[in-house]
Amino acid sequence: MSATAQKTAPLPDDIRARKGGDPLVSLTAYTTPMAQMMDAHCDFVLVGDSVGMVLHGLPSTLGVTMDMMIMHGQAVARGLQSAMMVIDMPFGSYEESPQQAFRNAARLMGETGAGAVKLEGGAHMAETIAFLVARGIPVMAHIGLTPQSVNTLGGYKVQGRDAGADLLMADAKAVSNAGAFAVVLEKIPASLADQITAEIAIPTIGIGASSGCDGQILVVDDMLGLFTAFKAKFVKRYADLGVSGEAAIAQYAREVRARDFPAQEHIFADQAPGKK
Ligand code: KIV
Repeated sequence: MSATAQKTAPLPDDIRARKGGDPLVSLTAYTTPMAQMMDAHCDFVLVGDSVGMVLHGLPSTLGVTMDMMIMHGQAVARGLQSAMMVIDMPFGSYEESPQQAFRNAARLMGETGAGAVKLEGGAHMAETIAFLVARGIPVMAHIGLTPQSVNTLGGYKVQGRDAGADLLMADAKAVSNAGAFAVVLEKIPASLADQITAEIAIPTIGIGASSGCDGQILVVDDMLGLFTAFKAKFVKRYADLGVSGEAAIAQYAREVRARDFPAQEHIFADQAPGKK
């Protein structure tokens, strides 16, 4: 592709304008090679705080720090050209006040080049979302199962069933009215996701929600079968890289022990070929 024909990354307003159009495609990424692999296929890539669980072996996302997000954000940015990068605000970096949220969101964007931040929470975060948006920080909201609240939600349960449905609809409207350019709906009944999608003005991005959402997102290590500690019902495994990777490692170990590796083609002669 010529330099002039090169596709540029969409802006948050471009993502917002996709409401009701062709589905938005998104995955998480934490490293440069993974970002390069998905760049041409995704509209936006999320540097998710799921990095703590899938790459660092943490038991939840609560231990993820600003420094971890910045390091992974910088790595992902090096791998993206045509997809927009969104970065998660980690637990404890935004809940205290709109001012705290601004300070940390500005640092995340300034040090990684992300085009937007994502934060968890509905109506109770609306004031913070409006504060950030008014100061130049595009915000993607995240409602439903919000993993940073696992301890108050009592686990990773489906959200918005029965009485909770009205509250979630109110959350969706609150973040949309506050100026978020899109909202992630995680682990909620499909009918509620469809209803929210129909009633709010910004794109809904589903994960365990509905194919009727305006877009979908998955954790890349889940869909590639690299994260195998558990598999949520909403994850479709498009590959089993964990299984094939372990088989490759086992074969390497056997070959080293049998002195079959390295073979002739992997080793160097005393002199370069053709030299006397
Ligand atoms: O951190 C993350 O990976 C996320 C997605 C699951 C939406 O927030």
